[in-house]
Amino acid sequence: MIMSRRFKAALPILALVLLGACTAGGDDPGLEYAPQMYHSVPYEPLTQIKDKEAGTWLSNREDGLGEFYNSNDNNEFSQNVRMPVPGTVRRTANGSLPYRLKQEDLLIAADVPNPLPDSPAILAEGKRLYEVYCDHCHGSKGQGSVEETSDALVGKVFIGVPAYNSQLKKGLSQGHIFYTITHGFGRMGSHASQVSEEKRWQIAKYVKQLQNQ
Ligand code: HEC
Repeated sequence: MIMSRRFKAALPILALVLLGACTAGGDDPGLEYAPQMYHSVPYEPLTQIKDKEAGTWLSNREDGLGEFYNSNDNNEFSQNVRMPVPGTVRRTANGSLPYRLKQEDLLIAADVPNPLPDSPAILAEGKRLYEVYCDHCHGSKGQGSVEETSDALVGKVFIGVPAYNSQLKKGLSQGHIFYTITHGFGRMGSHASQVSEEKRWQIAKYVKQLQNQ
């Protein structure tokens, strides 16, 4: 390519002008090359552009608004997400309502039904979890460890654990058992931090079976 001398001489000046345009700071994005690559067409919560005129010089939008405008005027905060209806409660992953009953709510807790369906798979999982979290104190059949045992492996580490099928305990509802695992009961501590809500209901199902043995 043949360039005129004059053009060659002007090149450094042109370069200076171009580089000088490369400034940005604060709210000023500077000169953007291919701005449509930076500005999101969908509504972006973190890059809200509420000025309807923004980018009109570039616009090819059908609604005639500026190319960079990306807010939703029909909603509060100009975003697409809406505030939930007051009093809305988010359901848990398994579709049940969150358990908010406190230690003092035992009487209400006892009436809460187990949200899980009856199924051999759930019962088997309850048994597996029981063997991990409860067995060592309550015994493999929930017989408790009231009596001393000569078995060196079992020992008599936890004395005073009631049998699930005793007169006093066999009537306890699954809601009560869930409550016991959640908040603890008397000398038994809470297991809420180790066992998720869904797993606690699975265990409760299995304990119910042990009560009837
Ligand atoms: C560290 C030993 C220990 C572990 C682990 C343990 N428990 Fe207990 N549990 C006890 C003791 C002790 C009692 C008796 C508490 C009392 O009456 O003061 C008890 C009582 C209970 C009761 C009867 C509550 C009532 O209202 O009388 C239930 C039901 C129960 N446990 C279920 C479970 C389940 C289910 C697990 C497993 C998630 C479990 N426990 C884990 C020691 C334990």
